[in-house]
Amino acid sequence: MTENSVREFEYADADFARVKAAIYRKAGINLADSKKQLVYSRLARRLRVLNLDSFGAYLDYLEATPAELQEFINALTTNLTAFFRESHHFDVLAEFIKKHRHNKPCRVWCTASSTGEEPYSIAMTLVEAYGSYKPPVEIIASDIDSQVLNTAAAGVYSLERLSALSLEQKKQFFLRGKGENSGKAKAIEELRKLIDFHQINLLDKHWPITGKFDVIFCRNVMIYFDKPTQLKLLERMIQFLTPDGLYIAGHSESFSHATHLVNLIGKTTYQLAVHGKKDCSQ
Ligand SMILES: C[S@@+](CC[C@H](N)C(=O)[O-])C[C@H]1O[C@@H](n2cnc3c(N)ncnc32)[C@H](O)[C@@H]1O
Repeated sequence: MTENSVREFEYADADFARVKAAIYRKAGINLADSKKQLVYSRLARRLRVLNLDSFGAYLDYLEATPAELQEFINALTTNLTAFFRESHHFDVLAEFIKKHRHNKPCRVWCTASSTGEEPYSIAMTLVEAYGSYKPPVEIIASDIDSQVLNTAAAGVYSLERLSALSLEQKKQFFLRGKGENSGKAKAIEELRKLIDFHQINLLDKHWPITGKFDVIFCRNVMIYFDKPTQLKLLERMIQFLTPDGLYIAGHSESFSHATHLVNLIGKTTYQLAVHGKKDCSQ
């Protein structure tokens, strides 16, 4: 039996090659050959919605229909995240505020915020570090995926997803749903107000952001890009860092080959290699 005889839709190696080329071109995502089956299951839902019977037909439709691009990207991104994931980074953030931003404002950019657990963890950390529900902070949370951004902006999560929060944090920062919302909790307004959600494709030439950031969280997204893209993005992002700002990477993202740009100062935490010499180019 061939693979195609058991599949619902026709799907050839050439189709996978077209998907790979398109997602690399549009989002920088570098799909390994081992992801052929994963791509099939992620996109099959779109073929059903559009009533198409082959990947070839879907890819022709994608090329002819600009509006489909967002659906294509949403289907292929991996959005795995969690509250206080890699929790040591939130200790680093709290320490940074207490030592260097006490009574001073702080801007944070969370560059691949997925469904929002990461920016809300940042917001809770900042409220606690400043000891105020109205800390002098601005958090920009961005992602390429429009669907996860909608989830993030709503700020509603199942109670299981809140398991990394202390009892105190759950009480302080979330409201438990009742009736049809039981089993869920919503981030309080004070927390939601601290975060501005924007759709930003890191691959775009222009990012709709201005000014400097004290901390940039760019965790677990660089791994989807190839090395030259990673380096180019790091080079651009650090232009938005204040001279003593922090660049925080994911657990498997290392910039030990980029010591001309950043220095490792803690576990996957970096600072500018040359303080004060970078400027915003946009
Ligand atoms: C695995 S999640 C990481 C989420 C979070 N940063 C964390 O560490 O828990 C990767 C996120 O990167 C986003 N992403 C992928 N390519 C992107 C791009 N070109 N521009 C912006 N975001 C992108 C995906 O949509 C996804 O939400």
